[in-house]
Amino acid sequence: MSKALEVQLDVEKIRSDYPILSRKVNGQPLIYFDNAATSQTPNQVVEAIVTYYHQHNANIHRGVHALSQEATDLYEQARKTLQKHFNAAKDKEIIFTAGTTHGINLVASGFGSFLTADDEVVVSAMEHHSNIVPWQLVCEKTGAQLKVIPITEKGEWDLTELDTLITEKTKIVFVNHVSNALGTINPVEKLIQKAHDCGAAILLDGAQAAPHLQIDLQQLDVDFYTVSGHKMCGPTGIGMLYGKEDWLNKLPPYQGGGEMIDQVTFEKTTYAPLPQKFEAGTPNICGAIAFAKAIDYLNEIGLDKIAAYEHELLEYATSQLLAIEGLKIYGTSAYKAAVISFNIEGIHPYDLGTLIDKMGIAIRTGHHCAQPIMDFYRIPGTARASFAFYNTKEEVDIFVEAVKKAKSMLS
Ligand code: ALA
Repeated sequence: MSKALEVQLDVEKIRSDYPILSRKVNGQPLIYFDNAATSQTPNQVVEAIVTYYHQHNANIHRGVHALSQEATDLYEQARKTLQKHFNAAKDKEIIFTAGTTHGINLVASGFGSFLTADDEVVVSAMEHHSNIVPWQLVCEKTGAQLKVIPITEKGEWDLTELDTLITEKTKIVFVNHVSNALGTINPVEKLIQKAHDCGAAILLDGAQAAPHLQIDLQQLDVDFYTVSGHKMCGPTGIGMLYGKEDWLNKLPPYQGGGEMIDQVTFEKTTYAPLPQKFEAGTPNICGAIAFAKAIDYLNEIGLDKIAAYEHELLEYATSQLLAIEGLKIYGTSAYKAAVISFNIEGIHPYDLGTLIDKMGIAIRTGHHCAQPIMDFYRIPGTARASFAFYNTKEEVDIFVEAVKKAKSMLS
């Protein structure tokens, strides 16, 4: 399998970790190219979930009994796994969340208590709605102004006006590391430097970057970073917010409840230290443990190999698709994750997606929760194929033939 690709992953063996990849959809073998929406879950992660519920299930940080201690140990070990993988300086800088959207809202809400009408927040025109709407809500509440870094036709940041966009008025810059709609890998280092030069904090949405790239938080020197477990072969409902200790100490709690407190009286409540301050209530204990297992799994394969293999799939699929007359790819940066957003002249992406689903192929169609990007290109949406390391060149070939067939049926 995939012998023509230069990077040799044992894809056949990897695929055997995913029973779902052997099923049929609409009578055809499933080809799953919707990995930017959610990745599939390997047996190893499912087994970690089963083992947790069969052997260790208990509430954490709350009991002296053995099961509670075991569950607490597993949960805190999971935090350390994430700390090590993302190279955070301290495990208390890792906050378990329900996912990227939760992490962003936590930070936006915290900044909402600092911002005034004189302040500015900077996002980019390439953002997912979860990177736009929380800041709009904060700006409405505080009177702060939202400024937007424009993009170019290739789907890259246009940084020509950066000096007027990020200034000493900027309090936080908020951008995605990799675009979910276009696949662009953004030059985040430049923005981190610029934000810090102006005394602003910067948050990177790493939901689409972390599944494909090795992230070194200390090297990036970013203030906040968010990821989702389900895009990294983990379960849904679990994610990570990284924040530098100083920033997390400055932000107020996001939710009140059990475990996030130090002392509670009706007169005054004091809060628990990090990370508990941001983990009110019973957290997704099993999700955190399974997320850590998924990270171990990715590391066993090797993120460098994953990135190189997916890049080859991307290049192969791009050249095959571009050979189809009338097909246009949106997002043509030289720096891309394995995402191809495209349209065929005269065909609605929804119709294309529906037809190729009948052929067993899963892609996403629509605006990909990034309507401003679609407005920029003056299109209603795109068809988006997004690849993972368990996909193959043969699947790309079948997909390209399916797109051709759908084109001839819809033209
Ligand atoms: N943000 C996810 C996507 O791009 C859901 O599909």
